[in-house]
Amino acid sequence: MNDLRIDTEHLRQFVSDDEIRQISPEVVAAKRTLLAGDGKGNDFLGWVNLPDELDPAIVASVKKEVARLAPKIRFFVVIGIGGSYLGARAVIEALQSEFAAVLPSQHPYVIYAGHTLSEDYYHQLLALLDANDYAVAVISKSGTTTEPAVAFRIVKAHLESKYGKAEASQRIVAITDARRGALHDIAVQEHYPMYVIPDNVGGRFSVLTPVGLLPIAMAGYNIDALLQGARDMRQLCVGSDDVLANPALHYAAIRNILYRKGRKVEMLVNFLPSLKFLSEWWKQLYGESEGKEGKGILPHSLSFTTDLHSMGQYVQQGERLMFETFISVDKPSSKVEIPSDEQNLDGINYLLGKTLNEINHNAELGTMIAHRGGGVPVLKIQVPRVDEYVLGQLIYFFEFACGVSGYTLGVNPFDQPGVEAYKKNMFILLGKPGYEGQQLA
Ligand code: PA5
Repeated sequence: MNDLRIDTEHLRQFVSDDEIRQISPEVVAAKRTLLAGDGKGNDFLGWVNLPDELDPAIVASVKKEVARLAPKIRFFVVIGIGGSYLGARAVIEALQSEFAAVLPSQHPYVIYAGHTLSEDYYHQLLALLDANDYAVAVISKSGTTTEPAVAFRIVKAHLESKYGKAEASQRIVAITDARRGALHDIAVQEHYPMYVIPDNVGGRFSVLTPVGLLPIAMAGYNIDALLQGARDMRQLCVGSDDVLANPALHYAAIRNILYRKGRKVEMLVNFLPSLKFLSEWWKQLYGESEGKEGKGILPHSLSFTTDLHSMGQYVQQGERLMFETFISVDKPSSKVEIPSDEQNLDGINYLLGKTLNEINHNAELGTMIAHRGGGVPVLKIQVPRVDEYVLGQLIYFFEFACGVSGYTLGVNPFDQPGVEAYKKNMFILLGKPGYEGQQLA
């Protein structure tokens, strides 16, 4: 089943059918390279078959871990950065109440660490953990990333002083490499429950491994439905070479056509604030995969209608650098009507009888037409609702399209050599052993 529809109504004046036909052989060749595993970065293609090949024993074990820990905690601290936390956060924040942090719940509330070095953040986190029961997932594929290592050292010390060393080691789950890295060694020495991130799955493609599955299940969401959505989308992405019928190929084709025409910025737009972290996950996926060798679309994101009152002016009339990709959700999970008011002092009685969703959709359509009229190509990705199944489809769709798009662009979508530059400078500045005498650059 495919719940995701690519709608090009507001794109036609910018991308013609002829242009799609012309680029199709390149996109199909990129897809073949991805599936044949004979392109750049082919050591990191484990995610392609992951939804179908994931060992059911891993899913069962994740659920068992949740059943063991959830009853005794209020907070689950996910320590990780980049691909080691963004996917889980994207799914959890898409599904949970905006006010989950202050609402009673039968499930633990997931909070995050290791994605920042802010001293105030950790001070505030420790104050929260002092007053509440918690457990931790520490996630790092390399097991050596500084930010999560620092966070883990701080949180581990707190956990051990709060619960004692033996109980603390039962409240920590490590998710890391099977053999290497400091986190692997700590986990083995301290006998933490442990999950492995497969060698051939890079961080930003790892949400459907325990990296994403454990926090998502801990927050109370259905990981079977998430995986089913991904499996169904995989069938379609892998199965069809028809660029117009395969949404991932269609999306990859459109973005490469627009890029070649000078549209160097893609704005992922939503009309639901709950999708903010889906955009953050998407930005990492596309930014790290394509931004290299002096090439790549700059991924940016906007949440409307909020950002129409901040960035709307630029999008409408500023430099024509960008195109927009709208994620349009047909139905909300709940209903709110505008109450009637005879006096109508606010002048909005014309909205009576409409749901907020209808109003939001009219804002969305009005925005698409206005931006198209202002010279911004607008692509719409339409989904019926936001639930685990649809999120699984969206995740796999974006991953597959990213691989195809990166190969069409001519880069290795599965490495991130540029991330090392800041790390090297930081290590020189902090005096890390081994970096003595090296120059900042
Ligand atoms: O996609 C990637 O590989 C990176 O963004 C990593 O996810 C990020 O740098 C964190 O790395 P690690 O999981 O090794 O701590």
